[in-house]
Amino acid sequence: MPEETLQQSALRPRRSCLAVPGSSPKMLGKAQALPADQVFLDLEDSVAAPAKEGARANIVSALTEGDWAGKTRVVRVNDLTTRWTYRDVVTVVEGAGANLDAVMLPKVQSADQVVWLDLLLRQIEETMGFEVGRIGIEAQIENAAGLIAVDAIAAASTRLQTIIFGPADFMASINMRTLVVGEQPPGYDVGDAYHYVLMRLLMAARANDLQAIDGPYLQIKDLEGFRRVARRSAALGFDGKWVLHPGQIDVANEVYSPAQDDYDHAELILEAYDWHTSEAGGARGAVMLGEEMIDEASRKMALVVAAKGRAAGLQRTSSFEPPQG
Ligand code: GLV
Ligand code: MG
Repeated sequence: MPEETLQQSALRPRRSCLAVPGSSPKMLGKAQALPADQVFLDLEDSVAAPAKEGARANIVSALTEGDWAGKTRVVRVNDLTTRWTYRDVVTVVEGAGANLDAVMLPKVQSADQVVWLDLLLRQIEETMGFEVGRIGIEAQIENAAGLIAVDAIAAASTRLQTIIFGPADFMASINMRTLVVGEQPPGYDVGDAYHYVLMRLLMAARANDLQAIDGPYLQIKDLEGFRRVARRSAALGFDGKWVLHPGQIDVANEVYSPAQDDYDHAELILEAYDWHTSEAGGARGAVMLGEEMIDEASRKMALVVAAKGRAAGLQRTSSFEPPQG
């Protein structure tokens, strides 16, 4: 099956991205056993200023001990308006770079901030003898300046893997009139107040073959609220969402995986299209699958859904039978 139209970003699942405060050795210890696709060990807003240095050491220990198999391992450093960023990167990557998949940079406001991190990572990789370029970058967009510059940010480094929405900081940055992160601001009853932001981030991510990740939902006991908000960004095409509590993980893994019916349907489209466009099937371009007409564009849509379903471990419950006669 030709895979050239399938964005590679669809293949590395990050449906659930679990936030773990670097200041809590207990929570760092528990994270390995949880079924999150990604774990990010935090040095930023979940860690108080006096605890930042200790948190760096906790994170290095956590990354180098135990078994993180099957998880994307990320560390969120402090943003570049603070004095902590360079030491966060140097301490964590020198100490645990071989066990780290990406560094998350919060509150990114311009492409040069990503370039700074790219260059620093290269110097550390060369100094430490790590493979140069292996460690990725995740860029969190959390204010108006970052959103305006997101196209340049998303194209700033080949290390970039994700563009992430940071709703809490973003809502503060634009003076949105609510304190409930992820929910609609009271008074705006004509649509989704986040639609523009989410679509803007998604376009920048897709144009650069990056994953688009939705941010946190702070009412951690309200799983129905989490599901409702997650379904919105999943419907647009986002790949995953932050989870702040283990209880949110299963919901995120489910919401950002294709539904079983959609997965089966996508695999059928691929098989039917493959057969009908072959010599044996008549070498046709637009063909019928049951009542539905499918063509090359249908194949492209189906490729993404099928790849996400396979990555999520879904099994097919139907198969394609070429028409007789
Ligand atoms: C996350 O960092 C957020 O600000 O929502
Ligand atoms: Mg934030």
